[in-house]
Amino acid sequence: MAKPSVRYVCQSCGSLAPRWAGRCDACGEWNTIREEQGEEALPKGQTGGKGGRAIRFVGLEGEGRPPPRLPTGMTELDRVTGGGLVPGSVLLVGGDPGIGKSTIMLQASAALALGGQKCLYISGEEAVEQVRMRAGRLGLSHAPVGLASATGLRDILATLEEGAPPDVVIIDSIQTMYLDTLDSAPGTVSQVRTGAHELIRSAKKRGFVLFLIGHVTKDGQLAGPRVMEHMVDCVLYFEGERGHPFRILRAVKNRFGATDEIGVFEMSDRGLVEVPNPSALFLAERRGNVTGSCVFAGVEGSRPMLVEIQALVSTSASGTPRRAVVGWDSSRLAMILAVLEARCGISFAGNDVYLNVAGGLRIQEPAADLAVATALLSARFGVSAPADMAIFGEIGLSGEIRAVSHRDLRLKEAAKLGFAQALLPPRPRGARKGGASDARARDPLALKEVGHIQDVALLFGPAEPQAS
Ligand code: TYD
Ligand code: MG
Repeated sequence: MAKPSVRYVCQSCGSLAPRWAGRCDACGEWNTIREEQGEEALPKGQTGGKGGRAIRFVGLEGEGRPPPRLPTGMTELDRVTGGGLVPGSVLLVGGDPGIGKSTIMLQASAALALGGQKCLYISGEEAVEQVRMRAGRLGLSHAPVGLASATGLRDILATLEEGAPPDVVIIDSIQTMYLDTLDSAPGTVSQVRTGAHELIRSAKKRGFVLFLIGHVTKDGQLAGPRVMEHMVDCVLYFEGERGHPFRILRAVKNRFGATDEIGVFEMSDRGLVEVPNPSALFLAERRGNVTGSCVFAGVEGSRPMLVEIQALVSTSASGTPRRAVVGWDSSRLAMILAVLEARCGISFAGNDVYLNVAGGLRIQEPAADLAVATALLSARFGVSAPADMAIFGEIGLSGEIRAVSHRDLRLKEAAKLGFAQALLPPRPRGARKGGASDARARDPLALKEVGHIQDVALLFGPAEPQAS
């Protein structure tokens, strides 16, 4: 028998280190390197091409049928997965602890089971009673879901291999699963990687849809699902701000559909409720004509979404002014502040700046630049942006306002929600013909096109323009 060897594995990215270190050289995370026993099983004696068979190559042309789809019965989940689940595919559902992963998966499994699919929910985190209690609270006790509490992968795999295969299997969570052929503890990279690998193999062989739930933790105690991202067909992240009821399911990788599609849910006392019209929800608590607030006409995936951007600018008491951002990129805020200073002569050096995306949404689009600049100017000079104005556009370093994608989609959504005007970049020259005139004829919106940040400063800035 080979003597057990010791390896040092980063629990965040899975890379091997020659010895223990405080920081992983590969991913830069601190305190993530752990000692693990044993080696990962590698097939022996099959190197150098001996004993292998030649593989056959084919051309790119050929009949490719779209994969069959299994609708989940949850519209938002179907949207994120690209129109339903593909049999034999594997989906990783990641997110912070307590965000609602178990809840959404229980609801999805109940919806699938009620639609006639054979659905198994295996929980390694909670006892059967706990899951039943939650199902009772959600009003789902009648759904014919097969429920089990287990962590031993050997038993789970054996169960999945015997009899008629199930349609959908949910593993909650992959970090609690344990393969007894490995010496390392549950949740370590070798366990997570090997366990996921075995489950995925079973899913591909038997043709069932496999959901793997994985926690994302920053402290490296549990293996980050990052080590599994390349193994699965689809990676969904469930995100939201603590203290806000909104939850966003976001596809970051999808072999069977578009990425960046999102599903919007609201956490209620009866579980997650789908939100068909997020704009109305995110704007529900907005009060018009307040300085420092404006509405950004955003697009997430293929779906328009209007959100309120709030800025607060106050006199700084300390030498290093504060810059606090919730829901947006802080380096992007620094850039907008620098552009305002360099191109309009408006300095925020003596001010604390707070920026908030209302409702707990995280915006990743650069198209929010113009709305952020407007909110900042409005907060700084006390000129409120019109309550019925929707804003979008990217800002370049020379202060130019750049066109962004989905212009008509954004305008249509704004018009639908009763906005009367839009602040936006000029239409790109090539696109003047065609769609422009009909869109204008259809849109009840008054379009205010701005080409440079100075035009925005004239609208919402100081009474007398400052030297640039
Ligand atoms: P859970 O699905 O257990 O999170 P995860 O599996 O991602 O760790 O969700 C737990 C949180 O959701 C918990 O804080 C309570 C809240 N919750 C509700 O607000 N309403 C509900 O109906 C349910 C079931 C949970
Ligand atoms: Mg859970």
